[in-house]
Amino acid sequence: MKEQLEAIRKSALESIAGTQAGADLEALRVKYLGKKGELTAVLKQMGSLSAELRPVMGQMANEVRASVEKAIETQSAILAEKAMEAKLDMETVDVTIPGKAVKLGHKHPMYLALDEIKDIFVGMGFTVLDGPEVELAELNFDRLNAEEGHPSRDWSDTFYFDEDSRVMLRSQTSPMQVRAMDSMPLPIRIIAPGRVYRKDEVDATHSPMFHQVEGMAIDKGITMADLKGTLNTVVKQLYGENTVTRFRPHHFPFTEPSCEMDVQCHKCGGVGCPTCKGEGWIELLGAGMIHPRVLEMAGIDPEVYSGWAFGMGLERTAMRRFKIADLRLIFENDVRFLEQF
Ligand code: DAH
Repeated sequence: MKEQLEAIRKSALESIAGTQAGADLEALRVKYLGKKGELTAVLKQMGSLSAELRPVMGQMANEVRASVEKAIETQSAILAEKAMEAKLDMETVDVTIPGKAVKLGHKHPMYLALDEIKDIFVGMGFTVLDGPEVELAELNFDRLNAEEGHPSRDWSDTFYFDEDSRVMLRSQTSPMQVRAMDSMPLPIRIIAPGRVYRKDEVDATHSPMFHQVEGMAIDKGITMADLKGTLNTVVKQLYGENTVTRFRPHHFPFTEPSCEMDVQCHKCGGVGCPTCKGEGWIELLGAGMIHPRVLEMAGIDPEVYSGWAFGMGLERTAMRRFKIADLRLIFENDVRFLEQF
């Protein structure tokens, strides 16, 4: 029996030292020490030994068990260490490999133009306002003196949310005039850029969503001369000192008198060409003196205060600023186009 035990110890220690993986080690533990293992099988023969030999063999069997257990423990630690080293090797970072460059974008040309416009007005003491695109028809129309039946209120022109035409996508930034009058102390000088929506088909000059910048000044003694002076200053800063402008009479429900401001065509210098459709002039914005009724509806006394307002299309302004021929380029966001600015 002694030889059997020695043989078990020898073969166990050898095979344990030769294992490469934790699973193999576990298999060996079962093979030697398990319930049906080799050592257990030997111990089961103890009953046939003489009373003197039994304790001697018992002690020896215990020693073999202890040394096999110890060997498994030692080998297990060695394998864990090896596994850790292999993992660290795999995860080594090669700091000499060139990195992937992050491509930075830049501002859209229309927002570049808007930044310029904001800078110019802020420099003149105006506050920039932001307002909701989902607007009450009351503010978009009624409070701006465009009563029931005004053509711009038609369902074929305006995106309404409800049957009784009370909530809509704003069709102009002009309701921001009303919001400013309702919430700000006088005098007021504001601009309000943002998206507006109309039921237009897409073509070279139309889109169902576009951008406007609204402007308004209310104070004592404001006249049409202030309107012309301010807008001429802005346009010259935006398009250059030599820009020629003209003001034409027009009609808007919320201003009286009303006008449109044109700039002389930058392509032909006023002679007439395809860019200005042969007119020599390009329409830039609508403006006028705020209608007394609009001031009254906001609780402002038109005998004491007066004001001017304007609304300009931002896409058109940017198109002129950067000499872009087709409105669709502004919305398509083709990087080959956008990269040029
Ligand atoms: N809201 C007008 C439009 O959408 C533009 C406009 C004209 C705004 C005259 C004004 C204004 O503030 O005074 O065409």
